[in-house]
Amino acid sequence: MKAVILVGGQGSRLRPLTCNTPKPMIPLVNQPFLEWMLLRLRDQGINEVVLAVQYLADRFRDALGDGSHLEMKIHIVEEPEPRGTAGAVKNVEHLLDGSTFIFNGDVMTDLDLRAMLDYHRENKSKLTISLTPVEDPTQFGLVETESDGRVRRFLEKPREVDITTNLINAGTYIIEPEIFRYVPPDQFYMFERGLFPVVLQTGDPMFGFPSRAYWTDIGKPQTYLDVHHDILIGKMNYRFRGKEIANRVWLEGDADIHPQAQVVGPVVLGHGVKIARGARVIGPTVIGAGSQIGPDTSLEGAVLWENNQIGEGSVLRNCVLGRANQIGEHCHIIDGAIVSDGCRFGPENRLERSIRIWPGTTLNERAISF
Ligand code: GTP
Repeated sequence: MKAVILVGGQGSRLRPLTCNTPKPMIPLVNQPFLEWMLLRLRDQGINEVVLAVQYLADRFRDALGDGSHLEMKIHIVEEPEPRGTAGAVKNVEHLLDGSTFIFNGDVMTDLDLRAMLDYHRENKSKLTISLTPVEDPTQFGLVETESDGRVRRFLEKPREVDITTNLINAGTYIIEPEIFRYVPPDQFYMFERGLFPVVLQTGDPMFGFPSRAYWTDIGKPQTYLDVHHDILIGKMNYRFRGKEIANRVWLEGDADIHPQAQVVGPVVLGHGVKIARGARVIGPTVIGAGSQIGPDTSLEGAVLWENNQIGEGSVLRNCVLGRANQIGEHCHIIDGAIVSDGCRFGPENRLERSIRIWPGTTLNERAISF
């Protein structure tokens, strides 16, 4: 069985982290998210995957090639211009045969794919949409189903009085390729606003598959942080790489941790991390390979990608740092602040309240106290 993963979007809500790295390639717990997804598919018996790429397409080619290093067959197909979610699948239709899984490339889930496929087949469905419950249905597009699971209607961000379900589209589909005869070729076309309403009208069997599996869209800064915290505190099935060197502290390769530093799990450390005297690293925190955490620093709820240098006495709390940033002494990066790649901050800068710093930014001493 084949799968298509949609990975061509611009990831605009996650900027500036997606300026240099397409959203599906950003690290999640120190591993490119897409690599985690592909290995999960391989574990479930799906060895052939079509990647529908567009934005920063070369990043996928460089990292994945034909997939042989993952022992998979990967076809990378680039759209001439963004075609939208259903248009992107139309563009790779020639590679599909038989029932096919389609995935959004930005959804973290441990959905039981086998159970979904059985459900699709039992119902002789042509299009099955995975559904997940949400707490506040007014913020989402809802999917209402009949008692047998057939989709009855779609409700876009309803008023409270109109709410009849708390189930939303969870971004995993199984399709029979013939359903793509309704999608116009060479055009921008979406599942939600295009194909789904059409299939409702034609009456082809379209079913919802509700599941209580873990589900988070990693595409917003807060959910990107939340999903790290969820994984680290054990809210979903997740196999950590590397070895557990202390209670809930995982390390890949080697690290240099000063005996007078404190590391309190859940924490994940990449290869070559250095943690200096007096530093306190409190979980849930992830530190990417090659990062150097200076003396008397304090990190809590932070996600750092590779090769960051954190100056003495700095505080990082509930924040994300991309790659290769140099943070001066006594800086505060807290409360949802996001620093992209290759930034240099002089001492005593203070970044908070979800401020976003673009790649390559230089800040002099005390330039920002936001
Ligand atoms: P935002 O710009 O923040 O909305 O993110 P996004 O561009 O990734 O869009 P969205 O989250 O709605 O997309 C869901 C999934 O579909 C993601 O995995 C995207 O990469 C993918 N996607 C969205 N639009 C396209 C497209 O035009 N072509 C392809 N190939 N994939 C797309």
